Amino acid sequence: MCGIFGYVGKRTDAGTIAIEGLKNLEYRGYDSWGIACTAGKELTVSKDIGPIGGIRSEDFSAPCSLAVAHTRWATHGGVTQRNAHPHLSEDGSIAVVHNGIVENYLELRRDLKEKGHTFQSETDTEVIPHLIEEELKKCGDFAEAVRNACLHFDGRYAILALHTGSNMLVAARTGSPLIVGVEKTDGVLNGYFIASDIPAFMKHTRIVQYLDDGEMVATDGKMIRFQDIKTGEVREKREISITYHIEQSQKGDFEHFMLKEIMDQKESVTRAVNQDEGEIRTIAEAILRAKGTFLVGCGTAAKACMAAEYFFSVVAEHHVNFAPASEFKLFHHFLKPESLLIVVSQSGETADVLEAMRIARDKGSKVLAIVNVEGSTIDREADYTLLINVGQERAVASTKALTGQLAVLLLIAYAMGERLKEGRTLLLETASTINDMLNPRFVERLEVLAAKIHKNENLFIIGKSWNYPMAMESAIKIQEVSYVHAEGFAGGELKHGPIALIEEGTPCIVLTGNDEALQDILSNAQELKARGAFIIGVGPTKFDIFDEWIKVPDAGSAQAILNIIPIQVLAYFLAVKRGKNPDMPRNLAKSVTVK
Ligand code: M6R
Repeated sequence: MCGIFGYVGKRTDAGTIAIEGLKNLEYRGYDSWGIACTAGKELTVSKDIGPIGGIRSEDFSAPCSLAVAHTRWATHGGVTQRNAHPHLSEDGSIAVVHNGIVENYLELRRDLKEKGHTFQSETDTEVIPHLIEEELKKCGDFAEAVRNACLHFDGRYAILALHTGSNMLVAARTGSPLIVGVEKTDGVLNGYFIASDIPAFMKHTRIVQYLDDGEMVATDGKMIRFQDIKTGEVREKREISITYHIEQSQKGDFEHFMLKEIMDQKESVTRAVNQDEGEIRTIAEAILRAKGTFLVGCGTAAKACMAAEYFFSVVAEHHVNFAPASEFKLFHHFLKPESLLIVVSQSGETADVLEAMRIARDKGSKVLAIVNVEGSTIDREADYTLLINVGQERAVASTKALTGQLAVLLLIAYAMGERLKEGRTLLLETASTINDMLNPRFVERLEVLAAKIHKNENLFIIGKSWNYPMAMESAIKIQEVSYVHAEGFAGGELKHGPIALIEEGTPCIVLTGNDEALQDILSNAQELKARGAFIIGVGPTKFDIFDEWIKVPDAGSAQAILNIIPIQVLAYFLAVKRGKNPDMPRNLAKSVTVK
């Protein structure tokens, strides 16, 4: 949440670089944006509410070699220009951008006011530059002043501060991600980038250095120094070359990233399935050996975990426990050193998932991470990581990450049942079915269906077995991008309450498969139909009860992977028909780094 970007170095177009970098971080928050840049003593600050997308980077082309920039997902203080970052010190020489929360900001603000500081915004962030300014008066060294200020902050944060006097950037993290990009030409250093995410500076460099929690970094573009925030001890950092490609993070000919990423599934599932067989077997054995396996994730990733409960039960006859990561704290009593925590996360930065990992580690349990973003905090903190390899996912609505997660989890289930080859074959066939299925006629059919139902304010989705978590996931997808009130239920639960919501014409999506749950879910569909529901069947077989049928080929135990795809497309078109931008759903951000 919130995107941070900074540059210091030989280049004199730091303003343009910062705006371009920020555009690549916009998925992290788009309530407001801001930039501060300088070529020496003068600091130029621009900020505004709304997304940065339309801003011309050329408008920031005045020569400067030091800049910080920010795109905001509001926590403290409304979405106003005043509350937009960067925030400045009293003397205007220090500019700060911030991701996270300074929990004790009210107390710090009161103390600073007593010392004569004035505040322009309602944010927690604004105390940071003022406190750094106070510390700078005492020690005279900017990096040390930032470090001393950090010792006063409670909470999880990433901050990036610029000082015109010393021409330096200093960054610190205690929970939210920060990565340094090292730019060199023919081995000669040009400068440094500091950002929340690698794609922000990937156009300029593929050499990175990661900050760990509790660390800070100071640079003037020529030297760089990493330190422990608490002790000040200097830390050595390796330079790491990243391997993935920038083309993966561009929209190409698509109007929205969401549709582009849905279409990416034509080949991303194959990449997810192509895991090293030895590694998959080792993981399967670890799960079978563990005294208690817990699966946790948030949002869409949590639905992948729920589906995996069914995969492990049906395919491998092995029981595992699932909890949303934010609820996991309450189950820590059951963790032993021999237990295994499997965390699933696209971004690898979700705060609730990181907390679950830390709880498990405190109990001595091992952590397996299934993530998309290599080098993310979850990847680096886990004992073992399996990458789903689906390429960068930028749309807030998770699509290709989900199918990648489901594919990997089902593959593990097959390995646990000693049927890895069979599972791999099934999943590769499923991946190739996706390629055929996502043809223009299929997409157009869903657009027509969206046009038919987009004025309905309520929509329900039911499923059974692994289609139950997919019904819940369908609801998330539709809610977050189209703002239609959608809810997903286990089909059998309808008659215990939710059926009271059904009226004449209420659209109800029924997820089906050629499996043992089929007859039950069709009976549930009959119960809905009898109350006037408009039934949209999704699955391999057409039944008379369906008012509309979205044909999805039979995929056996991989049916969940196929069934969710038409719903992703439908959600996309519901958003578009309702005049919403599916890439920027209100109140949301891609990476949820606050609890
Ligand atoms: O990066 P993560 O997979 O850990 O993110 C978890 C959720 O925030 C995420 O899946 C969210 O629910 C999606 N926006 C839903 O489409």
